[in-house]
Amino acid sequence: MARDTSVEELLALGRDVLLPVYRQREMILERGQGARVWDSEGGEYVDFGAGIAVCSLGHCNPELTAALVEQAGRLWHTSNVFYSEPPLRLAQELVAASRFAERAFLCNSGAEANEAAIKLVRKWAASHGRGPERRVIVTFRGSFHGRTLAAVTATAQPKYQEGFDPLPGGFRYVDFNDIAQLEAAMVGGDVAAVMLEPVQGEGGVMPAAPGYLQAVRALCDRHDALLVLDEIQCGMGRSGALFAHWQDGVTPDIVTLAKALGGGMPIGALLAGPKVAQAMQFGAHGTTFGGNPLASAVARVALRRLGSAEIAANVAKQSQAIRDGIEAINRDLGLFAEVRGRGLMLGAVLKPEHAGKAGAIGDLAAAHGLLLLQAGPDVLRFVPALNIGDADVAEGLARLRKALEVFVAG
Ligand SMILES: Cc1ncc(COP(=O)(O)O)c(C=O)c1O
Repeated sequence: MARDTSVEELLALGRDVLLPVYRQREMILERGQGARVWDSEGGEYVDFGAGIAVCSLGHCNPELTAALVEQAGRLWHTSNVFYSEPPLRLAQELVAASRFAERAFLCNSGAEANEAAIKLVRKWAASHGRGPERRVIVTFRGSFHGRTLAAVTATAQPKYQEGFDPLPGGFRYVDFNDIAQLEAAMVGGDVAAVMLEPVQGEGGVMPAAPGYLQAVRALCDRHDALLVLDEIQCGMGRSGALFAHWQDGVTPDIVTLAKALGGGMPIGALLAGPKVAQAMQFGAHGTTFGGNPLASAVARVALRRLGSAEIAANVAKQSQAIRDGIEAINRDLGLFAEVRGRGLMLGAVLKPEHAGKAGAIGDLAAAHGLLLLQAGPDVLRFVPALNIGDADVAEGLARLRKALEVFVAG
């Protein structure tokens, strides 16, 4: 940081000039390398959050940096009025990797990918002669699909919707992992799609129960509805497979991606299976930046690495190490009711007597050199880089233990 700028000045600037929609921790992050980050005062942190499950291959990964720099010297942006090679190749590679999709739409964020999915569902239903009243999309309590008006309506959590009425119509909510409720919600024949996260993220790191997605797929087939999977947080290797739904043995109609796909560059994608690949035609949708050559060039490298056997093996290994570490801490401190999730998307659920304290624990963790996220007020969330090494995991867990000892000491 320039010597004439103090941390206090920057924090004050943040309070003054940004729309106050976030509650940032009181630090200025300046530099990152792998699973470590440094603040402007030289403080060093193990990063168990990876920019909310985004920096999938660590900070400043040399391969991603090289792809970015190479593309930056060639061509930055064309708009979608013209072709350039990086987004074409990325779409081709995503389609091939997905094992189900025929086409891709590239955009800039998760919310945008879901917005495109919602529009695609509606267009598909319209093109099959269904009136607006028969284009209902069922989503799940505890879900999170993003902050655009349609995505926040799909997000069946009142706290994200408060004050934004009137919300778009045509959404219906049911409880996650309750197949009877979904069945009841679909009997009227007005449902065009069921949209869900294979592992709910923001809602508390809640995985679909074994067999649940297969039961959802069967209901979609019976009622001629599309299955839309939001893999924005749980996809791209995080669950232990490149696509989380591979672990559930289902074939979706639409998958949305973002976060890890860009390894830190903003990019999102919608993958469309055979039923819907042609449902949106010229003029139906678009975005200026979607598939930007810089983001696409980086995402191509990230996709190749995230789909490797090496990453899958590391996710399995470090997932077990983090689970074991949390359980060892818990044997001594007794803070958690359970650890749940898949791969490197884990949630440690606080016991009822510590409910609401995840934020306070996050503050203590930062004070002990660990960046740790929460998933709601009661769950500590572990979503580190998928290539995090043994030493960083061990050090992160040691710092977590110290922070939790201070928490327990009160
Ligand atoms: C499952 C899921 N869907 C959608 C989104 C929204 O993505 P973005 O913040 O990139 O718009 C998120 C972000 O946390 C997410 O976890």
